[in-house]
Amino acid sequence: MKSAPPSVEIAPSILAADFSSLGEAVHAVERAGVKLIHVDVMDGHFVPNISIGAPVVASLRKATQLILDVHLMIERPEEYIEAFAEAGANWITVHQEATFHLNRAVHQVHEAGCRAGVAINPATPVSALADILPDVDLVLVMSVNPGFGGQHFLPASTKKIAELRELRSRYTHDFRIEVDGGIAADTVQGVVRAGAEILVAGTSVFHKGDPAAAVHELQRIAAEAVLQRV
Ligand code: DX5
Ligand code: ZN
Repeated sequence: MKSAPPSVEIAPSILAADFSSLGEAVHAVERAGVKLIHVDVMDGHFVPNISIGAPVVASLRKATQLILDVHLMIERPEEYIEAFAEAGANWITVHQEATFHLNRAVHQVHEAGCRAGVAINPATPVSALADILPDVDLVLVMSVNPGFGGQHFLPASTKKIAELRELRSRYTHDFRIEVDGGIAADTVQGVVRAGAEILVAGTSVFHKGDPAAAVHELQRIAAEAVLQRV
């Protein structure tokens, strides 16, 4: 029996929310029925910006039962995986470019009791992930250069999403495909048709007057696009 197509989830990125009221921001999108919250961790080295660390993840953990999808844009992620897991992260994604020991980092995430993701920057080809794909639960395609919210979607990302979907079916891997950067009403259709299943959205959710309504709109476009997948 053919299984139903995976549903598409919107993962609001709290990077675009007001940091003085993160709990309220999370509750606003919770009411829209999201299943996960995307948390961007930046160290000022791997990316030219500094955001938040494990203590903020611990505070979010107290505020919500939703899946905390923690995106580590940091060098030497191995040194911090345990701290983020203890703080309450559910999914931890490390960058392919940020460690010499990607396999070790992915297994550390699993040993810490979390789902493991691997992310690639716009200039990194999908082929760089060939030997790690059997081990990951999630692949995150960066559709902007990481470091800042509010950037324009890079169209070459769509091809990478399609390539991952093709590889997954050819080798019967089990990862989900996430896309991050510049996701808004005008870019959802293309990435979902290509195969994206988790759409990170910061600016297009939290810079709107009504974040829940913004999530609903993205969910609506995604649900239509899923039916157009070939
Ligand atoms: C960028 C971050 C993104 C960011 C996306 O480095 O990884 O998660 O929050 O923001 P928008 O949706 O505004 O492009
Ligand atoms: Zn992110």
